[in-house]
Amino acid sequence: MAKRVKFIIKRFDPELHRDPYWQGYSLDVEEGMTVLEALLKISTTEDPTLTFRRSCRSAICGSCAMTINGYPRLACNTQVMEEYRRKGEVVIEPLKNYTVLKDLLVDMTPFWNKMERITPYLMPSREPEGGWKITKKDEARIDKAQRCVMCGSCNSVCNTQQIDPHFTGPSALVKAWRFVGDVREKEKRKRLLRLSDEHGMWDCTRCVHCTEYCPKGVEPLEAIERLRERATQEGISDNPGARHVEALVDSVKRVGRLDEAAMTFKTLGLLRAIGMIPLGLKMEIHGKMPHPILFPVIENIEEVRRIYRKILKEE
Ligand code: SF4
Ligand code: SF4
Ligand code: FES
Repeated sequence: MAKRVKFIIKRFDPELHRDPYWQGYSLDVEEGMTVLEALLKISTTEDPTLTFRRSCRSAICGSCAMTINGYPRLACNTQVMEEYRRKGEVVIEPLKNYTVLKDLLVDMTPFWNKMERITPYLMPSREPEGGWKITKKDEARIDKAQRCVMCGSCNSVCNTQQIDPHFTGPSALVKAWRFVGDVREKEKRKRLLRLSDEHGMWDCTRCVHCTEYCPKGVEPLEAIERLRERATQEGISDNPGARHVEALVDSVKRVGRLDEAAMTFKTLGLLRAIGMIPLGLKMEIHGKMPHPILFPVIENIEEVRRIYRKILKEE
């Protein structure tokens, strides 16, 4: 039996309105109806000015990503009745972290610019005699990254992207891994060097949102970890991100815990660490300054060092 469901949609036309506003619609919804079908019904029967993007209706083109009941989702892949049972209504907003062009339509230009920045195509080395032999393991390494439909949902929930619009972003970093992880790629090192720059892979704060909300199970954070691992293996460590990891590993090995003061110096270098003095004074006033004296070597440090030795031996 059909159920009357309330849809609350964030509307905004920058040519007509100063601020966004909410508009409510009610629809009779049958089990199985998607949010995209509901939007199409609203736009054809009630309000033709309602603007949103869509194409395939099959969760493969990535164009209908929007915020549904607080989370980024593909509208064509989201059941209205499931949302209704969860929240009692369906609240729809544009993707966050993007500029709204109109209603649910956002400007994807920065998204595509970031994609462009990572050179989103294979630069193959010379094909070996007899052709490329791609093993299952080779394929599995980049399998998840290849599932990306470029919907931009991950960038909309990315903490780093929120405070740094220049951050490469999870979607472009996943794409970068798709090529760095490909056995045929020739320019792996060049790519890794570029991705190690400011706004690159090391700026990710590992909040896990991209992995949690990607509608295609791409797991961007895993790809970012793999890029970092590869860069470290390649000895690309002349950047704060890689130095921070080295300092962390070193601190745990040395004292069995994080010696934050020493880590700051190792990560930033002396000159930049001096620039942090005003922040350090503020932290001191608020009792947040880590004091080296509070980081003595833990009991049983030998246990920790034994783990290190074991890992190194296994590697
Ligand atoms: S990684 Fe997932 S969320 Fe991000 S653009 Fe690709 S499909 Fe969308
Ligand atoms: S894990 Fe990193 S890339 Fe992913 S959303 Fe968080 S900060 Fe962004
Ligand atoms: S319309 Fe293509 S992914 Fe939804």
